[in-house]
Amino acid sequence: DNLELSYVTPSTNSLALAHKSVDKFNFFLTEHQVSGKGRRGRSWVSKFGDNLLMSAACRVPRPLHQVSVLSLWSAVACYNAIKSLGVREIGIKWPNDIYVNGKKVAGILLEAKQSTEGYTHLAVGMGINCNQLDKNVFIGQPWISLREAIGGYVDRNFLAAAVIEELVNCFTVAFSKPDRLIELWHDRDIYLGQNVCVLAGDDGEISGVHQGITPEGLLILGTDTGEHYYNAGEVSLRG
Ligand code: BTN
Repeated sequence: DNLELSYVTPSTNSLALAHKSVDKFNFFLTEHQVSGKGRRGRSWVSKFGDNLLMSAACRVPRPLHQVSVLSLWSAVACYNAIKSLGVREIGIKWPNDIYVNGKKVAGILLEAKQSTEGYTHLAVGMGINCNQLDKNVFIGQPWISLREAIGGYVDRNFLAAAVIEELVNCFTVAFSKPDRLIELWHDRDIYLGQNVCVLAGDDGEISGVHQGITPEGLLILGTDTGEHYYNAGEVSLRG
């Protein structure tokens, strides 16, 4: 009773954001999105029936300004689910892109709105390229599907079940042992310790060494002028 499937919808994140979840997670899955949303105002394009397009709706006991770390926890969950299919060469690019062999395989969009006092309503959206092979689909960045990575057809039902289980587990740990994030993250981050570039809107590009994340999920960049901290909502990262 907490799973809703559709053939076509504007965006599963919009469905999840409009849903009134209280104590449990509700999941929305679709075969096609007419206006799929990506991070930073971009769109998310996916061929009908090929991929996993899903969003979780939930209410969390945190004020609105403290929920962005949950997008990193969602990335850990998505990574773990994909890994359980036996995919190698997988990693996370801060804050929440999943990469296989240097190409994007999945993206996550966390949207939040203020709920009752002290609570926030979340939509955790995941787009995972499963069986899409058609390289004519315009995506605007190098991408790969799990089918290419595994060399075989991906059972989307199996993957969806794994994502749901991992997400529920990861959110439980996020609230009970939040400090565990750093270790989990550092084991999975593809650019940790490497030279990277942060694109910070009006501030232009800042290069430095990716030194890891804080418990709040901020990126720590070591530069000539010292350590700088970046929030996931404000910047993007290049390797
Ligand atoms: C990104 O990498 O930019 C995030 C992409 C998130 C896409 C998913 S697909 C399911 C859910 N519904 C949306 O409209 N977006 C997310």
